[in-house]
Amino acid sequence: MIHRSVLAGLTGLLMLTSVAALADTASLEKAQKMAANAGCFACHTIKHQTSKDGTLPIGPAWEDVSAQYKDKPGAADFLTRIVLEGSNPYASHWKNKAAGLAMPPNAVAITEGDARQLVFWILSLSK
Ligand code: HEC
Repeated sequence: MIHRSVLAGLTGLLMLTSVAALADTASLEKAQKMAANAGCFACHTIKHQTSKDGTLPIGPAWEDVSAQYKDKPGAADFLTRIVLEGSNPYASHWKNKAAGLAMPPNAVAITEGDARQLVFWILSLSK
């Protein structure tokens, strides 16, 4: 009896994880499409990359952004505003990780709601 209910519990767990995995794939595709449409990939990559010749990407890799911000309170609000309004060229904090001095405003390319969703997804990228 005990054995059977443990098994049932396990099956339930397995089903839950596969549903979560499906949801992840859907949001990954949605986020990537959103970012591509808004032109983010002109300057950003998702994965951290080290180039052999020492050239840096224009903007920081989103995995690095996630590692830097995911545990900071208010990060989602802060980053959504930066994405929409652009960053301060005098306060660049991605020295040696990005070649660009500042991010231009993206509000012409993405709505606030989409920017927020994208930022939530970016923040979830690092383990
Ligand atoms: C023209 C190049 C460019 C484009 C297009 C661009 N970014 Fe950026 N982004 C940058 C640069 C450069 C930085 C680093 C800014 C800094 O050091 O303050 C940055 C930083 C960021 C950060 C981290 C901000 C911080 O304060 O650390 C996030 C999040 C981000 N970008 C998301 C996006 C999203 C989402 C889009 C598309 C809607 C986008 N970026 C489009 C160049 C760009």
